[in-house]
This record gives sequence, C-alpha cells and structure tokens, in this order.
Amino acid sequence: MFRGRRLRRNQTIRSLVQETKLSVDDLIYPIFVIEGENIKQEIKSLPNNYQYSLDRLPEVVQEMQEVGLKACILFGIVDDKDEHGTKAYCGHGIVQEAIRKIKSIDPNMYVIGDVCMCEYTSHGHCGILDENDDVDNDKTLIALNKIALSYAQAGVDMIAPSDMMDMRVASIRKYLDEYGYYNLPIMSYSIKYASNFYGPFREAANSAPSFGNRKSYQMDYHNKKEALREMEADVEEGADIIMVKPAMSYLDVINTISTKTDLPICAYQVSGEYNMLYEAVKNKAMNEEVIYESLIGIKRAGADLIITYFALDIARKMKESYEA
Ligand code: PBG
Repeated sequence: MFRGRRLRRNQTIRSLVQETKLSVDDLIYPIFVIEGENIKQEIKSLPNNYQYSLDRLPEVVQEMQEVGLKACILFGIVDDKDEHGTKAYCGHGIVQEAIRKIKSIDPNMYVIGDVCMCEYTSHGHCGILDENDDVDNDKTLIALNKIALSYAQAGVDMIAPSDMMDMRVASIRKYLDEYGYYNLPIMSYSIKYASNFYGPFREAANSAPSFGNRKSYQMDYHNKKEALREMEADVEEGADIIMVKPAMSYLDVINTISTKTDLPICAYQVSGEYNMLYEAVKNKAMNEEVIYESLIGIKRAGADLIITYFALDIARKMKESYEA
C-alpha cells in the first residue's frame, strides 16, 4: 500500500526526493537607473528596491556579487521625454551608460537590456503613435532596432524586447546580424499580458500611459491559445528565450508553453506580485518562506529562469542557509 509519509519523515529524505530546486543561478534582478547624481531612491510601491543614478550603481553591483547573483535587467528613467522616445536609442543614454558602467565594474555581470519605449515617450505608450493615436507597429520597429543596436554597442549581454510589437524579434535579429552582433541573444517578452499587476513598475519607471491603456498591443488575459501563437511566431523569428509575464496568475501558461518549445522559458514575477507578497509578509499575514514558495511554484510550472524583485533577498537567504 502507498504511504506518502514514508518519504516525508525527515529533511534528508525530503531533500533526496525533492523534484524542484531553486538556485541563485536561475535569478535575474531588475535594476532601475535614473538620470542625475548621487541618487539611491527607494521606490515606494517596490519597497527595498531603488532607483540608482550611474554613480551609485557600484553599490547594487556589490550587493549582487556578495550573494552570488550574476544577472540583471536594466530599466531607464529619464527627464525630457518626447513623442518619439528618442532618448531610448541615444548612444549615451541612461541605459547605454549603465551597461558600460556595470561592465566596467564587473565584466562577468550578465547585463540584459529591456527594449521598450514607454519609459521614454511623452505619452507613455510603448511605441510611436500614428495620426489616430494608435501605436504604429512598423514605425516602432525601426526605433526598437536602434535601441537594440545602441545597447549592443554599449556591450550588453542580452536584448529583451518588451514592447509587444508584431515582428519585432525578426526585425531586431536581422538588424543586429547586419551589424555583426549575431552572437547577441534575444530573450523575447513573447507572452506579455495587458496586466493590472504592472502598477508598481509604472510608478518605479514613470512609464504609465498618459491616455488609454496597452490593450491594443499587450495580450488579453482571457486567452491562452493566443500565447501559443505568440510563442510560435517568436521561435520562428529567432528568439533564444521565451518569456511569460506576469508569472503567478499565469502558471498554466508557463506550464503549457514549457511543453511546447525546447527553448528556455523565463518567467517575470512582476511588480504587483512583489508588492502583494512583500506587504503580506510585512503584515505578518504569512511567513516569509512564502516568497521562496512562490518562486518554487514558478519553476515547478516549467520556468527555467525568473526575473524577480526578490532576487537579492532570496539569494541572501539561500547563501545564509548554505553557510549555516
Ligand atoms: C515596459 C515594461 C513593463 C514591465 C516590464 N517592462 C511595464 C508595462 O508594460 O507597462 C512591467 C514589469 C513589472 O510590473 O514588474 N514595457
């Protein structure tokens, strides 16, 4: 007769039969870089996460090194936005300079550049608008190509387009290849839903749309078959990693996608998910192990790597328990 409790009797046997493991190697930490000097400003809706000016970046790089975190993804925050988001692809823009800075501090730090326009356009949409205030897909592709190239020239390790324009992976791949960057991987935000869970990020990155919403380019969260079509398109267009975003309310999508492609799957535990868990732990409604549990759930669903605002905390915890 099956007795499930036989293999749960102590931590040793539980560890021996454990199916899902989380390693610091799986984690990517988001970093917000802001114009200006001597700024390390806590983000209210993302407590324990900060906006850093370039000169304060060494602090966060050092914290990451101390806990063995090896990868980050960069977001830029700028003044003087314009309709065309030109600061996004400026050769010496904030993200481009942050890439150079981090690589100069630690050449082995893996730096991923989020490619999008919403942090740089005056209207806050993820692309260039046409005369009807709709995001013009193909005009936006040209700008995205330029952003990707400017990151490449600054020495980025990976490009991550999050704009949700059609055909952008093909467009960026072709453009990078033409300039000789055929070895630079693309992690596509392939399956990015128009989600309410992005609220805190938009405060952190000052990137909320000034009118309307993102539903004409980000996915409808009622849909899952559509996720397969997005994945298939990106695989065909040359994506190296497929991302699903958000994570915790989309574990079914992560799971299905992971059975339909051999490419690595990244899940983004987004700002709203962070905020909920952080507050619940702070209010003592739940034990802080719930954070680890949430990440295990995302991995168990089928994710190989995870972008999370908890990366530093969790990496620190894991290190302490190994050392203990
Ligand atoms: C940029 C972008 C967003 C996020 C990552 N890249 C915001 C959005 O689409 O509005 C959200 C990340 C998060 O909520 O943590 N397009």
